[in-house]
Amino acid sequence: MTELTEREIDRLVEAATSVRARARAPYSGFAVGAAVLGADGSVHVGCNVENASYGLSVCAERHAVAAAVAAGTEVLRAVVVVTDSSPPASPCGACRQVLTEFGEFPVILANLAGDRIVTSVGELLPNAFTPESLGESVEF
Ligand code: THU
Repeated sequence: MTELTEREIDRLVEAATSVRARARAPYSGFAVGAAVLGADGSVHVGCNVENASYGLSVCAERHAVAAAVAAGTEVLRAVVVVTDSSPPASPCGACRQVLTEFGEFPVILANLAGDRIVTSVGELLPNAFTPESLGESVEF
């Protein structure tokens, strides 16, 4: 896991804060923004998008990961999640599993008050089911 610079974290927090303003969260009122840093230096963002059929709502983190993959970014170096909660909110279980698919990297939980908690995918979901769990037949 490569070290992140403060500058990289600032950039991601800014991107996640900005996309959070576009969250579609009329049911929960809980807006979330996420920004993913690719190993190629690219930044991809996502916000939560809720649906009247509540269970179809999609989290910000998964949208950011999908945007990264759609842009051709295969290796992720970090993800930042921005909410307006104190302490900053942590990714849900489904998002932890989706992040796990991309290996071990820092996850920064931030809020609008400027608080930041640095954790990692492995800390958030220890003993996870990973691509390796499927055995050697898996090809990427
Ligand atoms: N949410 C996220 O976007 N990310 C998470 O990791 C936790 C929850 C969203 C889903 C829903 O739109 C709202 O926050 C309240 O649960």
